Amino acid sequence: MNEGFYDEDELKKEIAYYKKQLDQRSGQAIRHDLSITSMRHSLKQKNDAFAVLTTLQKKYTVTTPLDTLLAETIKAITTNLGMNRSVALVPAAEAGKYMVSHHYGFPPEMFSAKQLKEIPITPQYLKAGQFMLVNKKAEPDETARQIQNNLALNFFVGVPVVHDDIAVAFIITSRIVERPPFSPALDKGDVDSLTAITSLISAVLQNKKSVELALQKTAVENENEIIAAQRDKLEKTLNDLKATQAQLVQSEKMASLGELAAGIAHEIQNPLNFVNNFSEVSSELLDEMITELGNDNKDDAIAIAHDVKQNLEKILHHGKQADGIVKGMLQHSRSSSAVKEPTDINKLADEYLRLAYHGLRAKDKSFNAILKTDYDETIGNINIMPQDIGRVILNLITNAFYAVAEKKKQQPDGYEPTVSVSTKKINDKIEIKVKDNGNGIPQKILDKIFQPFFTTKPTGQGTGLGLSLSYDIAKAHGGELRVETKEGEGSEFIILLPV
Ligand SMILES: Nc1ncnc2c1ncn2[C@@H]1O[C@H](COP(=O)(O)OP(=O)(O)OP(=O)(O)O)[C@@H](O)[C@H]1O
Ligand SMILES: [Mg+2]
Repeated sequence: MNEGFYDEDELKKEIAYYKKQLDQRSGQAIRHDLSITSMRHSLKQKNDAFAVLTTLQKKYTVTTPLDTLLAETIKAITTNLGMNRSVALVPAAEAGKYMVSHHYGFPPEMFSAKQLKEIPITPQYLKAGQFMLVNKKAEPDETARQIQNNLALNFFVGVPVVHDDIAVAFIITSRIVERPPFSPALDKGDVDSLTAITSLISAVLQNKKSVELALQKTAVENENEIIAAQRDKLEKTLNDLKATQAQLVQSEKMASLGELAAGIAHEIQNPLNFVNNFSEVSSELLDEMITELGNDNKDDAIAIAHDVKQNLEKILHHGKQADGIVKGMLQHSRSSSAVKEPTDINKLADEYLRLAYHGLRAKDKSFNAILKTDYDETIGNINIMPQDIGRVILNLITNAFYAVAEKKKQQPDGYEPTVSVSTKKINDKIEIKVKDNGNGIPQKILDKIFQPFFTTKPTGQGTGLGLSLSYDIAKAHGGELRVETKEGEGSEFIILLPV
């Protein structure tokens, strides 16, 4: 074989080789060209979608209604993404069905009122991130067939607009023609564009919700302010009420003083009678003494002088008793000094029992009651605020008398009004009981009787402060005030005081 020459076979081989090489290269070039075309296509798609997004973003605000959002969106995608027809579907009354709310690019007669149909869309397409891509090659499923038939669309992309996990709309866009050379009418790029745009709607809806929430929050804050203002007003009213109550407490004190006054008058009457009588008698005795002295009956005069002295002692005794009663009355009218002093509780209870009884008798001569007392003599003095506890006892006894008097009015025959007062030492407590055989307290008002101003007495007769004050006083002594009652049989109020 001569160097520099090729034999025919060799040449053929070589031609075949280069031909093959050439084929391969041009294949590559074509492929490169195709991929450049497709890259250019998807770049254009992205660019278009971006342009649409920018325009829409500028248009949409949190106040834009969903209606407008859908109308603008389908118009923008049809005109700017090279589509032919688009519709927005929204949920119909029947669950799972959607109906046309907006359309763009369709012949107008397509959506005349009677032709509006409801389209069932299977739930798989209604979740965020889902999509439908229907091309020539793809075998349409039921939803796709429904859309094709009802909307007369062959190839289309559909994506949901999801807000709060609910597909508030389903947007479909369609391109009628296939793109040359042989690419499908629609591709994944179109899906991406559409998804990006519907996400914008979702974002607007979400923002709208945030704004609404913020507005609601402001509304709640306003409401809180109103509530605070109301609370301040209520507080003021409460303070006013407290002041009024304090005033009423004072007048209640004066009222119970009035009640006492009648009893006191009765009590003072006795010593005064003594003072008057003994003064008169003593004056007569002194006349006699003068006579005896004139007659030089010295012994008789001395005897008379002794009598006068005795009388004067009696006058002093009764004068002091009256003095004591007046002092007691003054003490009652004075506000509580809040000072505890050793007190004979039996004596205190008895004094107030008698005062209350005579007070009532002075007002109503026909009133009569059996008074029973049972005092525990082993108690001795206990440390209390005497005028306060005195008022408690007086209140309870006055209530008891009222109760028995009422029953007597209803049942004049065979009923003996009876009020008992007793004291008893139980371990380290003193128990004071005031019992009556009146009508008792009905169950339905039992939990109200300790409330301030609760009274069943006719207007003008009771302030309803008696038990409330008594309760407070018992508490202030570290004690308690309880009641036991049986309808028709009577009541028993029990004061328990620590020693
Ligand atoms: N011993 C009782 N028997 C029956 N009901 C009673 C008795 N004690 C109190 N109540 C009932 O409890 C109510 C409240 O008593 P409370 O002493 O607080 O007020 P009041 O006696 O009506 O008026 P005030 O004592 O201020 O003059 C009475 O109106 C009465 O209905
Ligand atoms: Mg009372």
